Formats: sequence, C-alpha cells, structure tokens
Amino acid sequence: MEQLLQQIEAYKQEVAGFSAADSTALEAFRIKWLGTKGIVKATMGEMKNVPNEKKKEFGQVLNEFKTFVENRFEELKEGAGNGQQATAPETDFSLPGDHIPVGTRHPITMVRNRIISIFQQLGFSVATGPEIEDDWHNFTALNLPAHHPARDMQDTFYVHQNPDWLLRTHTSNVQIREMEKGKLPIRIICPGRVYRNETVSARAHCFFHQVEGLYIDENVSFADLKQTLYFFVKEMFGKDVRVRFRPSYFPFTEPSAEMDVSCFICGGEGCRVCKHTGWVEILGCGMVHPNVLENCGIDSNKYTGFAFGMGIERPAMLLYGVNDLRLFSENDIRFLKQFTSA
Ligand code: DAH
Repeated sequence: MEQLLQQIEAYKQEVAGFSAADSTALEAFRIKWLGTKGIVKATMGEMKNVPNEKKKEFGQVLNEFKTFVENRFEELKEGAGNGQQATAPETDFSLPGDHIPVGTRHPITMVRNRIISIFQQLGFSVATGPEIEDDWHNFTALNLPAHHPARDMQDTFYVHQNPDWLLRTHTSNVQIREMEKGKLPIRIICPGRVYRNETVSARAHCFFHQVEGLYIDENVSFADLKQTLYFFVKEMFGKDVRVRFRPSYFPFTEPSAEMDVSCFICGGEGCRVCKHTGWVEILGCGMVHPNVLENCGIDSNKYTGFAFGMGIERPAMLLYGVNDLRLFSENDIRFLKQFTSA
C-alpha cells in the first residue's frame, strides 16, 4: 500500500508540473490522465487490492487524487482559452451588421384570420379537427352514404394502411365532431386544410383551405343564415356589396344555396374577374339536413341550424389579384413578401 501512496504522490507532481503548449497537448493530457484508459481510472481500479479495513482511508486518497487531476485539467483549459483570446482579432465595429430578414404572414393566413375575426364578432368560436379522417366523419354522417353519387364531386386520397381513412375533402368533418359532443347550442367556424383528387392547374389544386361555419340552436331559420352571411360579406368586401342566393344541392343541407357577391373588382358592371356577369360565387350554404342532426344524436324536431362553407384561395386570389393558385404553395419568397396586410 505504501507503494501505491508513493506512486500517487509522483503522479501529482507530474500533473502539477505539466504545462500545455496548445490544445493538442491539452487533449493528450486529458487522454493520458482522465481518458477511459487513463491513469486516474487505472489508479482507482487499485481499490480492489486494498484490504477491507483500509478501504475507507484509501478511498479518500484516491478521490482526492482524481479531483486534483480534474482541477488541474480545468486550470490548463482556461489557460489555453486565455491564450487564444489574446491572439483573436479585435471586433471591427465599422462592418455592416448581419441582415436578418423579417418574415410576413402568408396571404392565405391573412385572409383566413380576417374571415375568423369577422365571425368572432358574431360570437362564433374556432373549432378544428383532423386532416386524416374516417369515412363516417367526412362522408357518411354528412348524409353521403357509400355509393351516393354526390361523393363523386369530392374524390380524395385514401390511406393505404386502412381503407376507412382518407384525407378530408372539407372541414365539415369538424362540424360532425362538434355535434357529436352533444353540447348545444353550437356556433363555430372551422378553418383548415382540405384535399381533393384533382388535376393541378392554375385554378385547382390537390389541396386548398376552407372556412366552414355551423350554428345550431332552437328556432334557427334561413333568415338567420342570410343575415349572418350578409354581415360577413359587408365586413369582408365593403359596405356596398350586394348578395344573391342561388338554389343549389348539398347532401348535408336542405334547402341548399350558393351565395354570390356583386363583383368587388368592377362593382357589378362586369369585368374579367367576374367573367362579365357582375357576380362572384363565394360560398355554399343551407339549413342542416335533419338526417345529419340525427346522425349526431341531435333531436331534429327541437333543433335546427345552418351551415356554410367557403374556400380561402378564391377570395384571396380576387382580393390580391393573383391569377394562379399554385403560387400560394410554391414558397417563393419573392411572391410571399409582397403581402403585408389584408
Ligand atoms: N362542404 C362543402 C364543400 O366543400 C361546402 C359547404 C356547403 C359546406 C354547404 C357547408 C354547407 O357546411 O352547408 O364543397
């Protein structure tokens, strides 16, 4: 044991006398003394040869040796750092600063936020749901049973692993999920991304964005629907805008309508944007079909409601004069940074 003590003393002297010329020498020091196969580890390993009654005493000596080497290493490291700093070039404050570009909101986000804030004024709150959906919430519960011909209007992408899963074709799935919760009344808007199996062109894409709305309570009528949407378009496109409702068909509403607004580019005179009709189609809407209410466990004799759905890309294109839908998803900064307010 005496021998070991002497050895440790010798080690300590060597460590204390070492000076690192540069970082390579420092690293060599670390490996030699503190590495996994280093001297400190090997010395600690001597513990097993120490008789039991001396273990405590030797333990202390060994630990102290280890701390000694570690402290010396830290000291040397700091010394090396200081040395390097002394030779580092001084900061040149006359150089121009780093340019950090400031981002802008995406035009789709801006239009979406504007739509949301208008409906929030009327007491609607935002609800969201999954983009990968099951057949029930995207189709069947919405009165679109399997093999219903109206499914053709919304072909989509199916998830290989499970034929019941698909990419939602509209955010109406969120309406179903909210109704299934069974808490009435419901007054929600559902913004989100949706998917369709369409050939990509300047006017169609395999995904786009929607905001849908749903209001369910006792005594909700078509008059409420019209007034709500009229308020919306006036806030969105200006006080002078006029609206018209055309009868339409959606399986989930009855009666159903398409709502047009007088062209906010030409004011209704006729131009290229409104294809010289004076009107721009903006959304689909209607009174929620009793089957849909019943599918979600809502008593259709007691409750009625209206729903509507609109794409965001179309009004965004019209508001900003964008003529190709694909620009919105190409992530070209030159395009995106042109939009600073909505
Ligand atoms: N889900 C329809 C679509 O994507 C839009 C729509 C129409 C939604 C009428 C509704 C509605 O909630 O009542 O084409």
